[in-house]
Amino acid sequence: MRGPRKERWLRFILAIVAVFLVVWYLRNLLSLENFADTVEEGFEGLPLAPGHEPESGSPPPRVEVTAEHKFMDDGLLEVNPEGIHPIYELIRRSEDAWRAKLGRASTTFPQAVAEYRRRYRRHPPKGFDLWWDYVREHAVQLPDEYDQIHADLEPFWGVEPKDLLSIRTELEAKVDSYTVGKTASSRVDVVNTSFELGKYDQLIKGSEKILDLLRDVEEHLPPFRAVFSPHDGPNRLSDYFVEDAARQAAAKGKYIGRKDFPKIDPTGWTSACAPGSPGRNKSINLDKSPPPKTTKKTFIHDHNLAMNPCLHPRHFWHHGHFLSYGRGPTPQKEMIPEFSYCSSHVHHNIRIPTPYGWMEDVLPRSDDPEWDDKVDERAMWRGSNTGIGHSSRTRWQNSHRITLLRIANELKGTISILSPFKSAKEPVGEPIEVRKARLNPGIMDVAFAGDPIMCDPETCRHLQKIFPWRRRQTLQEAGDYKYVIDVDGNGWSGRFKRLITSNSLVFKATIYPEWYIDRIAPWVHYVPVQLDLSDLHDALVFFRGDASGAGAHEDLARKIAVAGRTWSKTFWRREDMVAYFFRLMLEYARLMSEDREAMSYKGRV
Ligand SMILES: *[C@@H]1O[C@H](CO)[C@@H](O)[C@H](O)[C@H]1NC(C)=O
Ligand SMILES: *[C@@H]1O[C@H](CO)[C@@H](O)[C@H](O)[C@H]1NC(C)=O
Repeated sequence: MRGPRKERWLRFILAIVAVFLVVWYLRNLLSLENFADTVEEGFEGLPLAPGHEPESGSPPPRVEVTAEHKFMDDGLLEVNPEGIHPIYELIRRSEDAWRAKLGRASTTFPQAVAEYRRRYRRHPPKGFDLWWDYVREHAVQLPDEYDQIHADLEPFWGVEPKDLLSIRTELEAKVDSYTVGKTASSRVDVVNTSFELGKYDQLIKGSEKILDLLRDVEEHLPPFRAVFSPHDGPNRLSDYFVEDAARQAAAKGKYIGRKDFPKIDPTGWTSACAPGSPGRNKSINLDKSPPPKTTKKTFIHDHNLAMNPCLHPRHFWHHGHFLSYGRGPTPQKEMIPEFSYCSSHVHHNIRIPTPYGWMEDVLPRSDDPEWDDKVDERAMWRGSNTGIGHSSRTRWQNSHRITLLRIANELKGTISILSPFKSAKEPVGEPIEVRKARLNPGIMDVAFAGDPIMCDPETCRHLQKIFPWRRRQTLQEAGDYKYVIDVDGNGWSGRFKRLITSNSLVFKATIYPEWYIDRIAPWVHYVPVQLDLSDLHDALVFFRGDASGAGAHEDLARKIAVAGRTWSKTFWRREDMVAYFFRLMLEYARLMSEDREAMSYKGRV
């Protein structure tokens, strides 16, 4: 072949290549359904993200991506399709913030005292030096990060101690409570109980591990009496104006008298929300549909804010705790200092480092595989249908566990997800539609375990019919999954400790900020997902890839899973819970003292 003949051949080949490219381009551009078709086959024909298939294909496209996602002050990130896949950025930002937090932690007692005064503008509580000794001796990390204690107790600073004492005394008589305390000469113990007849044995159990934790440091605790709710969930709904009046008094170093609290105007859940906030909406009616959500993709950047129903009123429609009470209970007329195992943004219960669900390790450790030895690559969830009672008269249909079961097992229709194939150097683009039938069965293994509970016979049968029910798994079987989902039950999730210790990547949705909220980092130790689970598929597909595993970022998934276990073993030890409880009770004892000044640490530092 030479001369004109060779040129003709070249032109012919070029023409074929051009036609092929055009057809290929149009196919992908025009046919979203076709794109969905390729999900199972690993998006074949599409350029693979550089860095994930390093041996095959061309060098990474040199696209400078400067477009930014919107980090909103309600804790969510709103995706800008011109920006990179948001999860790259969420991980990077969270890692930076976590490193910075570790880096600025106080290392000496004078630093810790100065940091306390800087944050809270008052002296630490009396006994702070003893607390510091405990923290040093037991290598408790992040000694400044206890803002949750401050958030829980601050409004009570605006209530006169003698009023708080009388409220507490009345509370001791309230049915279904127990009181833990100590005197100058006695050990920490249950000092009073008030239970419904026949409930004693069941409800007193909750006090056992609490005593056990407090007894580690009881010789350092001042006398106190603390009333606990024995139930799983919080029970003291806040009234925004009552709490705000207390906060304002506290900010001025003054008290508001019991009689001087503003009169409540009960509107149920919305009573707890500030005027002008999305949650303070007269038209909240859980029997109607929730307000529509933005059509833009969103992810969590600040998990604590993202849990707040006053910022995200759709939570009222998506959690059994809210759905159980419809419009919501009457808020408290005053601030009630009642401890509980968990609390939410609309309650003012004082949360404790809950010892229930805590374990030293997933035992026996040899049965719980390392990340790379876990054989099941689907995201797993098993559990009972708790969270709400199920009958024709309750609103169970959108409660949190039911929502999980539905969205994980749905086969009809499509779901829009962000392409996991884009590198951290190119725009993520608009979401693509994928058929649920081609995604869900491959990426999730989500079923109820055992038999339906908390349901009338008819609804039980209905639940049995519409959802998958499997036998309960052993811990060994559960440990075989690389990805696990964690949602609330009747209260906080008691299994999170086990899951985050198991070398699996945890996807967590909750409305309960727990004691460790300032001491953990989402996207570093676990993956936060929204209560309505609208970002679950996106996060799952980003980390584990599509149904065939294509597009996975397994290196990032492994990193977070392993960091989660390391965190659990170093930040959620028994000593870490004791340190929190110790500090909380020093603060509480001062708050309830008629001479708060005298109960402050003013020693030399
Ligand atoms: C214990 O609680 C009861 C009400 O159940 C109350 O009458 C009593 O005064 C409490 N005991 C003490 C020592 O405060
Ligand atoms: C209140 O709820 C209605 C109906 O759900 C909604 O249209 C409106 O935007 C909400 N207002 C606020 C301030 O969120």
